[in-house]
Amino acid sequence: MRDPRGGIHDVSLSISVFGLGYVGSVSAACFASIGHKVLGVDVNRSKVEMVDCGRSPIIEARMDELVAEGNRACRLHATVDSTAAVLQSDVSFVCVGTPSLRNGKLDLSHIEKVAREIGTALGQKKSAHTFVLRSTVLPGTTESRVIPILERASGKRAGSDFTVCYNPEFMREGSAVSDFLQPPYTILGAQNASHLAPLRELYKDVPGRVFETTVTVAEMAKYVSNAFHAVKVGFANEVGTLCKHLGVDAQTVTEIFTADTRLNISPAYLSPGFAFGGSCLPKDVRALTYQAKELDLKLPLLESLLPSNAEHVERAVEAVMRTNKRKIAQLGLSFKVGTDDLRESPQVQLIKRLLGEGFEVRVWDRDVSLGRLAGSNRQYIEEVIPHIGSLLSTDLTTVLRSADVVILGNKSVAKEELLTYLRADQIVIDLVNLDKRGRADGIAAYEGICW
Ligand SMILES: NC(=O)c1ccc[n+]([C@@H]2O[C@H](COP(=O)([O-])OP(=O)(O)OC[C@H]3O[C@@H](n4cnc5c(N)ncnc54)[C@H](O)[C@@H]3O)[C@@H](O)[C@H]2O)c1
Repeated sequence: MRDPRGGIHDVSLSISVFGLGYVGSVSAACFASIGHKVLGVDVNRSKVEMVDCGRSPIIEARMDELVAEGNRACRLHATVDSTAAVLQSDVSFVCVGTPSLRNGKLDLSHIEKVAREIGTALGQKKSAHTFVLRSTVLPGTTESRVIPILERASGKRAGSDFTVCYNPEFMREGSAVSDFLQPPYTILGAQNASHLAPLRELYKDVPGRVFETTVTVAEMAKYVSNAFHAVKVGFANEVGTLCKHLGVDAQTVTEIFTADTRLNISPAYLSPGFAFGGSCLPKDVRALTYQAKELDLKLPLLESLLPSNAEHVERAVEAVMRTNKRKIAQLGLSFKVGTDDLRESPQVQLIKRLLGEGFEVRVWDRDVSLGRLAGSNRQYIEEVIPHIGSLLSTDLTTVLRSADVVILGNKSVAKEELLTYLRADQIVIDLVNLDKRGRADGIAAYEGICW
């Protein structure tokens, strides 16, 4: 049988696919097309009959051809009998729907029902079996909801008597087959990497990078991707709307915007860390949203950015308050390392809030010290935040010595310095998400607010 790269290989693992909707029928047809033996399962008899007769149950490019071919080659069949499907396969993929309830909560009833059915069948099975959840579920669902049902229904233990993995699907309807056969990557989640052996075998002919990770990371990676897609669509539409009302050509703007793969379409600005600040982002977001208001436009995504940023500063205040300590060393006052620009620095906002809550704060920043500052920044400190200027010290040792809690406000402090001066009893709150190699170890607590 042809694999996506044109090679031929033998039938290897036997798979059952629960749910013959968009994800399930595409997965079933594609796994069959790369040489695996597949048995589809659905409660909907007409979908089962269609697949079993070689007809696609969904309208989707290339599906008619793949289902017919799988059927002709006797590699793709379907049944309504879930027990038989488990007994006849090595791996069960669960692709049933996870719709929204009226209040927005995820409806797990289909998954729970299938887990009970598969668990009951596992109770009768002597040989090894891998349960793979492919439906989109919130982090923790596989471990806290699905595994207990499987264990109760089977009377067996996950991890020893059978294994459980999470393998999210990234296909888009309309190009689902080519997305399956040429995915951006494959994510395989398990409690123990050894549980992934059958999945490695199943995906060995599918190109792209494979991430082997924990179940919860795999579950979350799917949501983060979809949330980001939604953010991108919302952003593009709001920006386009603003362009249209300003008489600016949105298409050309987009073409130029997306041509920057260093800062715009890239991992830049996508690392969980501290709030944005500085002389540009807050001011420019404010100007755009004010302009939108003048045009009577509602742009809720752009309007949400400054409140979201302020909320992040609040999270830092709360993290400090949770320590129940009063003496704080703030390392980093400017919005990022390598600048002494304090305009709209969220670090300054944080210190103001901490002082308001009665904390004792000392501040150190390699790039900002009253002695070195000149011109507008010196004036800014003396006129706008004189109370913070008086907390600044050029001596890192002194600032650290008196503190119970050390806040890493930007990346200006080096690990060697931290390791030299930090005491084991001090708590570090790392707002900027230092690279693991740059983090101090051997101290009471080292934590972030969004990592
Ligand atoms: N549609 C997509 O493009 C897409 C992409 C990636 C991930 N997902 C996720 O994959 C999951 C499935 O989505 P979908 O669009 O394929 O759903 P769907 O509604 O098209 O299909 C679900 C299928 O499951 C069947 N089913 C329900 N209960 C069953 C049971 N007890 N036993 C056997 N079959 C049963 C239904 O009859 C239906 O055919 C969802 O969690 C979804 O969020 C969807």
